[in-house]
Amino acid sequence: MRTSTDLLRMKGRRVLITGAAAGIGKALAHRFAEAGADLILLDINEAGLARAAEDLGAACKVTTHVVDLSDRARIDAFWGQPDVSIPDTLINNAGAYRMRDFFEIDAHYLDATLALNLESALWMCQRFIARRKKAGGVIVNISSVEAIVPFRDDLIPYGMCKAGILALTRSLAHAFGRQGFRVNALLPGAIKTPGTEQLRKAALQRLNVDLMKTGYEFGARLSLGRWGLPDEVATVALFLASDLASYVQGAAIPVDGGFLSS
Ligand SMILES: NC(=O)c1ccc[n+]([C@@H]2O[C@H](COP(=O)([O-])OP(=O)(O)OC[C@H]3O[C@@H](n4cnc5c(N)ncnc54)[C@H](O)[C@@H]3O)[C@@H](O)[C@H]2O)c1
Repeated sequence: MRTSTDLLRMKGRRVLITGAAAGIGKALAHRFAEAGADLILLDINEAGLARAAEDLGAACKVTTHVVDLSDRARIDAFWGQPDVSIPDTLINNAGAYRMRDFFEIDAHYLDATLALNLESALWMCQRFIARRKKAGGVIVNISSVEAIVPFRDDLIPYGMCKAGILALTRSLAHAFGRQGFRVNALLPGAIKTPGTEQLRKAALQRLNVDLMKTGYEFGARLSLGRWGLPDEVATVALFLASDLASYVQGAAIPVDGGFLSS
């Protein structure tokens, strides 16, 4: 019988993480590096990506690629590079919270939101599965509690995307499980990142509400009584990607301090 430590080890694995320059993506990079994986990091933020790679030091082999994931042509260009090393694990994490009043949503805003928060995951999965058809692989998609319970009325298209990520995850698990692909999703909620710090500032400005404080409807639902840390999402992603989770398929796992169950 393999030991638990061995089942969790990522030595010899190549993990592609999108949105790896900050927040949850950066924590994912650190956690997978610590577990022994080689990393392929994608982000639109060139300087942030360089800093993230530098922070990882010599602990693992890292390649970085500046890719705007909201642009399908850039995704194609990435996969089309002759020297791109094909990962065995794909983590679709890149996303952005685009707040807008419902009646101010226009086609341009909707297209941009869908392109980054939903379509990019589909294109990345399509290319990944095509390249790994014979070998199989592991996909972890980062959805959100917002896919199930809306908590901000100015994030409606974002919620639509995150619900779409769940459908994509289950559909791919169903379609490609027998070909050796494990596909699962995580539903983070209330994780302290640069992205949610911006949300917090916007809520303070627009609603005069401090999201970090319990007492507000959102905070009151966190039965652990606090916001989570990016690494607390990364550790669950590591479990899902590892052989410890070899029989977990098509799952949507909340990492939300109790938000969905309160
Ligand atoms: N933080 C939370 O509480 C929370 C909750 C639920 C879901 N999520 C999801 O987790 C993921 C990460 O969230 P976060 O809070 O760490 O975000 P963040 O804003 O802190 O970091 C997002 C990263 O994605 C990159 N990115 C943005 N647009 C990009 C593009 N067009 N192409 C490539 N990279 C791009 C950014 O440069 C950044 O490095 C997102 O998908 C988000 O929806 C986060």
